[in-house]
Amino acid sequence: MDKLVVLDFGSQYSHLICRRIREANVYCELLPYNTPAKVIKEIDPKGIIFSGGPASVYAQNAPKPDKEIFKMGKPLLGICYGHQVLVDSFGGRVKRTNSREYGRAVLIIEGEGEEGTPDLFKGLGPGIMNCWMSHADAAEILPEGFKVLARTENSFSAAIGNPDKKFYGIQFHPEVVHTEKGSQILKNFAQTISGAKPEWDMKSFIESTINDIRKQVGKEKVLAAVSGGIDSTTIAALMHRAIGDQLSCVFINHGLLRQDEEKDVVRLFKDHLGINVIYVNAEKQFLGKLKGVSDPEEKRKIIGEEFANVFAAVVKKKKDEEKDTDSFQWLAQGTLYPDVIESGVSQGPAAVIKTHHNVGGLPKWLNLKVIEPLRYLYKDEVRKAAKLLGVPDELLKRHPFPGPGLAVRIIGEVTPEKIRICKHASKIVEDELKATAAFVPTSSASVASAAAAAAAAAATDNVGWHDKVWQAYAAVGDDRAVGVLGDERVYGHIVIIRIVESMDAMTADWSRLPYELIERISNRITNEVEGVTWVTYAVSSKPPATIEPQ
Ligand code: XMP
Repeated sequence: MDKLVVLDFGSQYSHLICRRIREANVYCELLPYNTPAKVIKEIDPKGIIFSGGPASVYAQNAPKPDKEIFKMGKPLLGICYGHQVLVDSFGGRVKRTNSREYGRAVLIIEGEGEEGTPDLFKGLGPGIMNCWMSHADAAEILPEGFKVLARTENSFSAAIGNPDKKFYGIQFHPEVVHTEKGSQILKNFAQTISGAKPEWDMKSFIESTINDIRKQVGKEKVLAAVSGGIDSTTIAALMHRAIGDQLSCVFINHGLLRQDEEKDVVRLFKDHLGINVIYVNAEKQFLGKLKGVSDPEEKRKIIGEEFANVFAAVVKKKKDEEKDTDSFQWLAQGTLYPDVIESGVSQGPAAVIKTHHNVGGLPKWLNLKVIEPLRYLYKDEVRKAAKLLGVPDELLKRHPFPGPGLAVRIIGEVTPEKIRICKHASKIVEDELKATAAFVPTSSASVASAAAAAAAAAATDNVGWHDKVWQAYAAVGDDRAVGVLGDERVYGHIVIIRIVESMDAMTADWSRLPYELIERISNRITNEVEGVTWVTYAVSSKPPATIEPQ
């Protein structure tokens, strides 16, 4: 399959370049900026893109690519810092401009008539379009053989090119949505200039991955831990297509699941995907270990360790039951593309805010070979794959649920009473949001813009609040408040409703639900969930808060 390579010079948009190229149906990989030319030769990309980055080309230790890359005869596109790297590498000059150009700018594309438009701007010029700039340095003197293809008021060389060598440089960012038709520019580079055939689509990815899995695994057996989440479900569906009953899926019930989740997941796997799931009820074991523990990180640690123990026990049992050769040799893991490149490209460890214990973190001492069928996919691509693999909507549309489950939604010690309240109240929240698919909110006009937009969208396309929001649940802690039920004083629990909108869970904002909806949720919780007297609504965004309270 034809592919492109993006060398990452540290821009926050490097991933986006890669995604846009894939959206143009050309497979694209992101590699560290200093990847040796011989490694790139082995990959044999049709074209190479240099991303932007925060450095200045003349700075000490400025990141530079392997010079041999320039001799490979491959088309090159430099974006922002990458553009300056090209100018610098071919004898041009870059200088720090007085007027830092940041934000929207009007790009004037050179050329006469559609015929005279440079390849990079095929279908776009000549003429003007909006582009997105973010730079202080700019090319002052162009290298020999390069000419100006487009300019802005502040950059005479906003786009340059050496069409003979197929080397191009652009000062703006075509990968961000603020650059009008920026995707077309990247598509032009990938398909017209580099000549990459548009062969990357989810259907062919699934077919080739199934072949790869068969080759890799042979007749051996694979174990996969499933949670009902999108990644583990997609892996299971993909592996099952490839190797059928050589795959065993394990679902561990740690007693901290959403209401009826264990039944639903096992049923959906069987009915829709034809996969039998080994169900392990380890409720007592987990809750026993959590008794008396109230520190959030301690709870997460215990759950992570226990998860590994239970999983190891399943492997051992299977080994004891069967001849060693017939037991599991492989563990299927849900590593996604951003996790894969993180190790090669990340700038350093970020502070640990919360310890995540997921299926991906199973210990090495399990001694299983690891297979990662989703390692080339972004999250939205996983969703597409899931749909094609027949994963039912009921699973696809579930909100993300944290590995440690309700333990991170129960503030303080996990007790049976708090689990009961959390489960029941969350079910009410989810059901009420689902019911809004046909519900038109009436009093959202005065709330802030995100909410108004979401409310308007919910009202117009009738998708409903459940599918609009990222997560929606109830949390509970040890705080109590006085209430009156009938004529009696009750000192009951306070339930916190948390409903957030988000793109990727890195940041989030609270959902501006219509008051009627909040009212209905609140009434139902105090009426139906025993021991609850107050309901509150969490109005903290992330940051400074996080999505889960523990
Ligand atoms: P926070 O609370 O860190 O959550 O803002 C961000 C997103 O991650 C989910 N989350 C987890 N997911 N294992 C997971 O698989 C975990 O340990 C975990 N902790 C938080 C959370 O639900 C939200 O979507």
